[in-house]
Amino acid sequence: MRWLTTLMLILAVLVPLPAQAATVDKPPLAPTPPMGWNSWNKFRCNIDENLIRQTANALVSSGMKDAGYEYVNIDDCWMATQRDAAGDLQADPVRFPSGIKALADYVHAKGLKLGIYSSAGTATCQGRPASLGHERADARKFAEWEVDLLKYDNCHDGGIPAIERFTAMAEALRATGRPILLSVCEWGANQPWNWAGELGHMWRTTGDIADRWGSMVAILDQQVGLEKYSGPGRWNDPDMLEVGNGGMTMTEYRSHLSLWALLNAPLIAGNDLRSMSEEVREMLTNREVIAVNQDWAGVQGHKISDSGDLEVWAKPLSDGGAAVVLFNRGAVGAEVATSAAELGLPAAPAYEVRDLWSGQETVTLGKVRASIPSHGSRMYVVRRGVPAKPVPAVATAVRTDTEGFVKPGQTFAATVSFAVDGLPAVLAAEVALTAPEGWTIRPEGRTGTPVVVPGRPFEARFAVKVPGDVRKGVFELPARATYKTVAGDGAEREEPGYGSVIVAEAPRGSQWLSDLDPVTADVGFGTMGRDRNIGGNPIRIAGVPYGKGLAPHAASEVTYYLGRGCTRFSADVGVDDGSRNRGTVTFHVLGDGREELAATGVIKGGERATSLDVDVSGVLALTLVTGIGPDNNNNDHSVWGAARIACAGPSTTVTATPTEVEIGAGGTFEVSGRLVADGTEPITDVRLAPSAPAGWTVSGQAAQAERLEPGGTLAGSWQVTVPAGADPGAVELPVAATYRAQDGSTPSDSATVKVLVRPAGVVAVKEAESGTLGGAARVSNCGACSGGKKVGNLGNGAANHLTLGALTVADEGEYRLILDYLVSGTRSVFVSVNGGPAAEVRVSGTSFAVPATTTVKVALRAGVNEIRFFNDTAFGPDLDRVMLAS
Ligand code: GLA
Repeated sequence: MRWLTTLMLILAVLVPLPAQAATVDKPPLAPTPPMGWNSWNKFRCNIDENLIRQTANALVSSGMKDAGYEYVNIDDCWMATQRDAAGDLQADPVRFPSGIKALADYVHAKGLKLGIYSSAGTATCQGRPASLGHERADARKFAEWEVDLLKYDNCHDGGIPAIERFTAMAEALRATGRPILLSVCEWGANQPWNWAGELGHMWRTTGDIADRWGSMVAILDQQVGLEKYSGPGRWNDPDMLEVGNGGMTMTEYRSHLSLWALLNAPLIAGNDLRSMSEEVREMLTNREVIAVNQDWAGVQGHKISDSGDLEVWAKPLSDGGAAVVLFNRGAVGAEVATSAAELGLPAAPAYEVRDLWSGQETVTLGKVRASIPSHGSRMYVVRRGVPAKPVPAVATAVRTDTEGFVKPGQTFAATVSFAVDGLPAVLAAEVALTAPEGWTIRPEGRTGTPVVVPGRPFEARFAVKVPGDVRKGVFELPARATYKTVAGDGAEREEPGYGSVIVAEAPRGSQWLSDLDPVTADVGFGTMGRDRNIGGNPIRIAGVPYGKGLAPHAASEVTYYLGRGCTRFSADVGVDDGSRNRGTVTFHVLGDGREELAATGVIKGGERATSLDVDVSGVLALTLVTGIGPDNNNNDHSVWGAARIACAGPSTTVTATPTEVEIGAGGTFEVSGRLVADGTEPITDVRLAPSAPAGWTVSGQAAQAERLEPGGTLAGSWQVTVPAGADPGAVELPVAATYRAQDGSTPSDSATVKVLVRPAGVVAVKEAESGTLGGAARVSNCGACSGGKKVGNLGNGAANHLTLGALTVADEGEYRLILDYLVSGTRSVFVSVNGGPAAEVRVSGTSFAVPATTTVKVALRAGVNEIRFFNDTAFGPDLDRVMLAS
């Protein structure tokens, strides 16, 4: 048989094995999901040994240690910027003067464990020394310091496959002989659920969490389907907790913690434990929620139902019960429901339902449901059996006959139902509905009943009137049912119901989405830009400018009401150039019930826009979602460029030419305008004309049409004269259209011509930002500047200059160069005309926000001139505008 062995050996060498991790004999840690604290979410690089000591103290004094939180994890930035003479990692001497061993001793003395951080790269994500190629030495140091956990990150990977890099560290840790928990942090980029469990004890499944609702739910969505990979000793890690960091409401934090507990996520608090509120402390130490997370069977919870915004997540427990989170991620309150059977519980006459946040215990015959406010949740453990003194489970719900959306002035019907889901019946039920101030509510019939039995809910109807002058947005309609139980303590009880409606008006005709108000806009950072990027600058994707568009920072969810009246949504999607070729984003267009109508793959910063053209016929509400891509949400400046919706109804598009005019006082220029009827119905009594400011004159008749069919156009042109005494500066001249729609309404539309009135004697005006920039010179926003912008970073090197060309004068000769600049102190700018010798212009000022003016003489030639502004040795002033006067 020797030949067979030889043949097998040859085959083993020739047939490449699929890439997979070697099985490292990892230490048996983390039978249940690890719990602890980590410095990153709250403190970033602003950490030191006092913070770590105080946090260890706080873990003990707050009761968190007793609740199970064990690891005190120092994230990035603990290490000195250089390795020591022996080539070893060393602690930052300023921030951690006592060293890591001393901290480990301190933390151990408190009965806690110490975690540390490095990256499987040439540097950490914050640019500190990291462990790629130093695995053995660094692991030895961590063991020598008596560290108990290593969070191993993925930045600066040196182009080496992740599995290789993480295997090297797992083996190095193993070789130390010290049991060190390995937390794999490669952001879910290489499907770590397939291999990281062989090496470590937990692995990140996504990019970084941010302290934002949108980020939390985006991460939640990425957990679906991963439940089968986790179990004792190997956990999916949807990233650390943000509870208590201030960027979400307490309702949202409660959902975050409930869901993370159910997902068997490592519960790693990320807030300042030294100063947390009592409410946050109580939330983090809820023993029953933690018990679900730490259940020894280690079966991860997963989503069992999803009807758009309403989700049910469930987890089987080792004692035969089931934990459940009823979750409402929508903008309006709603009932979320499941049943004992759907939770996988065996058939039984009745079930105990324990609310883990209120501590209330009730009994149900099978239904498990509750009314849940927007972004809220309820978390229960459901088991077979009946408590000694059963109190029946009840549910209050608010329904309207509106599909959730109402118009100003509308009257609608709201029904409050009160149901009993367990035994025995309840008595003296009374329901009430509350409306926002200024709204009226009238009950239509009874609001109470003496007895409510299971299967026969009591319903009360109300007529609700929305005021005519109401703002748009979400309005709550809270309800309440009060009742008495026969059994139990017989006390009066109360069950809330969370109803809401959204005041919205459906768009008509073709519209830019950036001209409409969204119903909700949850964004990953800052506020959504409309026709501007999130930095307030013009939108650009791979160099292409977009005058119109939406710029939400991913992860984002922005919803518009369409009222089933629209047919198409179109946009060019990509990452804004403001992210400087960084950032990775995905785009998803969702219809009602979160149905995906269109989606892109991952789009990177610097890539050309992808055009979307989506059929939205019959869609009531359109949701535009951007995801954070495979890495974290840094630089994820997602843009829906030229986002447009085509809807039924009248619509026009007006354009005017030129879009910009520069003219002296007393001068006359020509403007032409054009209107396209681009809606789905004819428009009548159409009129188009410039509407000039007082004192200006417009000659030429308004363009008029009695009726325009869809696709019809109307055009006109006019002579506009600026009064001789007009003040210099920018003036907006609208070319305005009015018309009558078929429903009798009289909408208007316009396009604007920007007129720059030159001061007397001025023959040419140029905004600095219109010039050619060299080197580090940059355009920046400046509220007090003409055109709202200036050029900064001029000088301090020959490369950093500004050139203004196309300065046209009629005659050769000496002119006055009027320079609007900004500076605090005194600086010089050098001026060179048509490549000639440089003249120094010394300027002084008090502010980089408000321009000042100086005048110098320059010699120009007849026709086109070019002027260069620079300073080869020192910084120059910022420049706002340049004018030439005779
Ligand atoms: C990455 C990780 C974060 C954090 C930072 C530190 O972004 O995913 O959790 O550790 O690095 O730089």
